[in-house]
Amino acid sequence: MSTLKKCCCVCTISVIACWSYISSSQEPVGLGTPVTEEQLAEFDLIAEPDGGGFPSGSGTARQGKAVYEARCAACHALNGEGVSGNTVIVGGDMNSEGTPLRTVGSYWPYASTVFDFVRRAMPADAPKSLSDEEVYQVVAYVLFLNGIVGEDEILNAETLPNVEMPNADGFIDRSHIL
Ligand code: HEC
Repeated sequence: MSTLKKCCCVCTISVIACWSYISSSQEPVGLGTPVTEEQLAEFDLIAEPDGGGFPSGSGTARQGKAVYEARCAACHALNGEGVSGNTVIVGGDMNSEGTPLRTVGSYWPYASTVFDFVRRAMPADAPKSLSDEEVYQVVAYVLFLNGIVGEDEILNAETLPNVEMPNADGFIDRSHIL
């Protein structure tokens, strides 16, 4: 047996021995600290298209205007027209001849995803700093700017998943081949 092969055999046996020692050991390894329910809640934020995972609270676009102007307009401009290519959140047309402009209004298939995204990732300079109430309000305002909901339409856990997005049918379901 060559030296290289011998070396590989020894290494493999050592790794297996080491792994079985670790996995059979009953002692905790003593790394990290247990996750608290509060810390978990910071990550457990999935709001699904079928209505699961939404927090309590509600909001209208009329209420959301103030939140938007204070917390979003610096990067997305007063009417959602954006300050750069990827900050445009209003307008766009997926059927345009040129490269389509993807925005909340033109591209996003579910209002729940807008809620979910804003709650976990926006404002980009201070993610998760908005209350659930403020997220409902500001999402209502972004949808209002896109002409999707009325100014006084109340968005909450029941109504938001029922908002019909213009591009809801613009995607092909390929989940069966995954
Ligand atoms: C400091 C700048 C900044 C602030 C403030 C900010 N955003 Fe954003 N936002 C961004 C950037 C940059 C992107 C693009 C991120 C990307 O493409 O990955 C984005 C993306 C988005 C998108 C997705 C756009 C798309 O079509 O992909 C939404 C919706 C959104 N922001 C909403 C908001 C809302 C609502 C607020 C206020 C609560 C907010 N943002 C505040 C910078 C900001």
